[in-house]
Amino acid sequence: MDTESLRKDFPPIRNSDGIYFDNACQTLKPDCVIEAMLRYYNEFPACGGRSVHSMATKVSMAVDESREKAAEFFGGDDPDCFAFTKNCTEGMNIVARGFGLKKGDTVLTTDVEHNSNHVQWIEMQEQVGIRRRYCRTSREGVFDIEEFKRTISKDVKLVSVGHVSNVTGCAVPLKEIVEISHDLGIPVLADGAQAAPHMKVDLKDLDVDFYSLSLHKMLAPSGVGLFYGKMDLLKKLRPLMGGGGIVGLTTYDSIKLSPPPERFEAGLSNYSGIVGVKPALEYLQRVGMDNIREHEFRLQKAVQKATEDIRGLSIVGPEDPKLRGGVFSFNIAGLNSHDIAMMVDNMAHILIRSGMHCAHPYFVSRKIDGSARASFYLYNNEKEIAKFAETLRKISEMFA
Ligand code: ALA
Repeated sequence: MDTESLRKDFPPIRNSDGIYFDNACQTLKPDCVIEAMLRYYNEFPACGGRSVHSMATKVSMAVDESREKAAEFFGGDDPDCFAFTKNCTEGMNIVARGFGLKKGDTVLTTDVEHNSNHVQWIEMQEQVGIRRRYCRTSREGVFDIEEFKRTISKDVKLVSVGHVSNVTGCAVPLKEIVEISHDLGIPVLADGAQAAPHMKVDLKDLDVDFYSLSLHKMLAPSGVGLFYGKMDLLKKLRPLMGGGGIVGLTTYDSIKLSPPPERFEAGLSNYSGIVGVKPALEYLQRVGMDNIREHEFRLQKAVQKATEDIRGLSIVGPEDPKLRGGVFSFNIAGLNSHDIAMMVDNMAHILIRSGMHCAHPYFVSRKIDGSARASFYLYNNEKEIAKFAETLRKISEMFA
């Protein structure tokens, strides 16, 4: 993998001296993605799936091509099992609201979920009366399959887990979770927002029932997500939103829902964003997901080595780089995480995230105020890591 050559494909890297380490939030977009979006606006800025004129047909075809590419990328046989959403959260809500959970039904999650796999379950508890159960992780947030076996039982109606944590970068053993759950007849929903951009995700091999992710965390345009489900289960799900596009014939008194995936794509879509999905996934295929994982692992090792003797710096989550992928969450004693984020930006144009990263249960349960977080992707390099470590060292010497 030739990082130096890849870097030339990203305008913010070419055009500034900044260091972008907020990739767990959203990645930068390469030229080919931006060009595809511009092509949509310059050549066929119409609506797909409705009008039969030639410009609209081009949109429908481009949407189909992106859907086919997504199915191929994630190991799916049937592109109709993939709906475009606006983000991972939307897909998680489609299942939460549409699965038909009733009062007393139990949903099993873990104690380190992002709000995308947490808030809707609390709402469902308040509004419908479902029950929630957690599988406890270690203090560092590491998932334990034996604890999962002890926590799950036949009365659970749905297991819903984050595949990789946006705080620690730790993955859960999704395939094993699915096997154990299926043995008890329980379907599994996974939040793949932090997994899909960083590792090979083969949905057929995982045998997971529902999987949701954000494509803007993997080079595609902002505000585009992907929601997958097995077809027989998708056909039983109620859509999250009503409106045009999700129905066949409606009368004053009745509706007939369209089949998946249209039933989950109400109203006019983000066509320019969807058009940008195909080149984004092709780009990742050219680089290779295994190479990306290996690269992030190298950067994680490098950042830990470069910062290990910085006074007051502590890592949030496990220290083993193999467990973390490209997420480096940390604190510096005596400093608030937002102050660290503002200082690295002001001093060296390094862009990181700070706070609780929408993963409040992790921090609240461990009585930590939040963390600073640098998250890496395929275009980051060791020179950037060295500058980051040098800046953190100065901050620690000045303020900690
Ligand atoms: N969930 C995204 C993050 O971790 C937004 O930054």
